[in-house]
Amino acid sequence: MTDNARLAGMRLLVSAGPTFEDIDPVRFLGNRSSGKMGFALAAEAAAMGAQVTLIAGPVALPTPAGVRRIDVRRALEMRTAVLAELPGQDVFVAAAAVADYMPEHTAAQKIKKTGDTLTLVLVKTPDILAEVAGHPERPRCVVGFAAETGDLERYALGKLREKRLDMIAANDVSQPGVGFECDDNALSVFTADARQEIPFGPKSQVARALLVLVADRLDLKL
Ligand code: CTP
Repeated sequence: MTDNARLAGMRLLVSAGPTFEDIDPVRFLGNRSSGKMGFALAAEAAAMGAQVTLIAGPVALPTPAGVRRIDVRRALEMRTAVLAELPGQDVFVAAAAVADYMPEHTAAQKIKKTGDTLTLVLVKTPDILAEVAGHPERPRCVVGFAAETGDLERYALGKLREKRLDMIAANDVSQPGVGFECDDNALSVFTADARQEIPFGPKSQVARALLVLVADRLDLKL
């Protein structure tokens, strides 16, 4: 079988992009995720025959051919959309850079500059990936991402275990040209018993290689 049909008949849910957590009507907390890796995964999975739903944070990227796209803004909206789409999915790939914290309250009016300092109280967002991995409708294969700046293997394996994932794709974002805001990437992919390297290349090529590993895993779990 060529790669082109490796995901035929599979349903794949992908989260992509940053989340924007609103402080007031004109300000938000965001991050530097471009969404390119998640969009590349959605595009390649569709090209490999999967039925793909893409939950996209706020990015201006075009929707890949054959992909169903749902746009969201904040982590809470992303969680709602992911959980609504979960039933019947074979694979969940969490490529989104979900904010870890959000403002406790979003001000209804623009915050005025009254004092010399301003204190924002932030609260943890729900961990969408961990929730999906522990969900009664858990897909057969749950894949997380980890952006690390050192000790890749230790942190990635920690997340794999703690979040009960099948696979985690880690990148070293301290390397120039890798990951955030880039067109290229390189990944170390961990399962409970193996480590595989996806060499540096365009995100489309890296996405395809990761999806081949996912397809191999699905074959094992049939
Ligand atoms: N993730 C998620 N929901 C969150 C936070 C993260 O689904 N609220 C997912 C991301 O999509 C990614 C993985 O979890 O697949 C990243 O794990 P995380 O523990 O958030 O990594 P870091 O933010 O890098 O954690 P730390 O800062 O502790 O290294």
